[in-house]
Amino acid sequence: MATGNATVCGVIGNPVGHSLSPLMHNEIARALGLDYIYVPCPVEENAVGDAIRGAYALGFTGLNVTVPHKQRVIPFLAETDGAVRCIGACNTLVRLPEVGAQGDMRRASSGQEDNKSIGYKGYNTDVEGLFRAMSGQDMKIFGRDCLLIGAGGAARAAAYLLVREGAASVTVLNRSLDRAEALTEDMRKMAAEMNRADCGLKLQALLPDRWNQLPGDSYLAIQCTSVGMYPHVDEAPIEDAKFYQKISQAVDIVYTPSQTRFMKYAEAAGSRVCGGLDMLIFQGVAALELWNPGVKVPQEVVERIRAIMEERLHE
Ligand code: ATR
Repeated sequence: MATGNATVCGVIGNPVGHSLSPLMHNEIARALGLDYIYVPCPVEENAVGDAIRGAYALGFTGLNVTVPHKQRVIPFLAETDGAVRCIGACNTLVRLPEVGAQGDMRRASSGQEDNKSIGYKGYNTDVEGLFRAMSGQDMKIFGRDCLLIGAGGAARAAAYLLVREGAASVTVLNRSLDRAEALTEDMRKMAAEMNRADCGLKLQALLPDRWNQLPGDSYLAIQCTSVGMYPHVDEAPIEDAKFYQKISQAVDIVYTPSQTRFMKYAEAAGSRVCGGLDMLIFQGVAALELWNPGVKVPQEVVERIRAIMEERLHE
């Protein structure tokens, strides 16, 4: 139960009514007995700066940011994490400590704030969420030949993780080849930014229907398109069952349904699979841990939260 001293956080987006984050964060707070509360905050496209300034003035410790504001928030932040700069999207804001009379906080609270000095640092916990979800299934990236299916916003966080964790090669499969090529080019820049430019990462872009040009038979595949998402549950980005024989581990970031057609194909071909609900849960857990220093959400609480969220998704 939150007291008058509670750590207050929330989610901004438009809409936010469907968001599972308030349920997840408040359940974790209850399970761990944290003095912490998380609220949904619908914010119009033209009010993002006002919302961040308002949250700062109201003493919010942090905010999650969801569609369509993940890029839009960036100019309003005092600082950004390297991952945010590489990916170009931010899903978590963390209030910076007060920095004194000459610092940003003072300007922010004296009414002279500009867009760059609002007092939050931006992170991208989608990366950490994907990393923890995959680690939980014993899926390792280092030295692996990987397939990244999709080249939109969600794929960028996965792309960053694949570069960071030392994939040997990444083939981006996307319906629009130009977007796949643009993402491989950006991954080269990410590698340079992370001082990994000389680590030998091989990158290529490919149309999905050219999958039979792939030479390997044991890829780690991460599905980052919206294909297969409810209500289009009978769709997969590649329908040929033979494609899935080339995969040994498969991740889908879609979580509605919890078992996508992509995952079913991959499982039928003998792959280990990881669904999007774990990524969703762990991006939230990572944010909660940033906002509540010293808190580490134990695995049994994660399991309980997953059961609650699955139940909600099936309602
Ligand atoms: P998000 O931020 O959720 O990733 P996005 O940036 O619009 O959203 O990207 C959506 C991704 O899903 C893209 O890779 C898109 O392919 P295109 O780049 O060719 O548009 C892919 N996608 C969406 N609908 C698709 C469909 N019906 N078939 C194949 N790919 C699809």
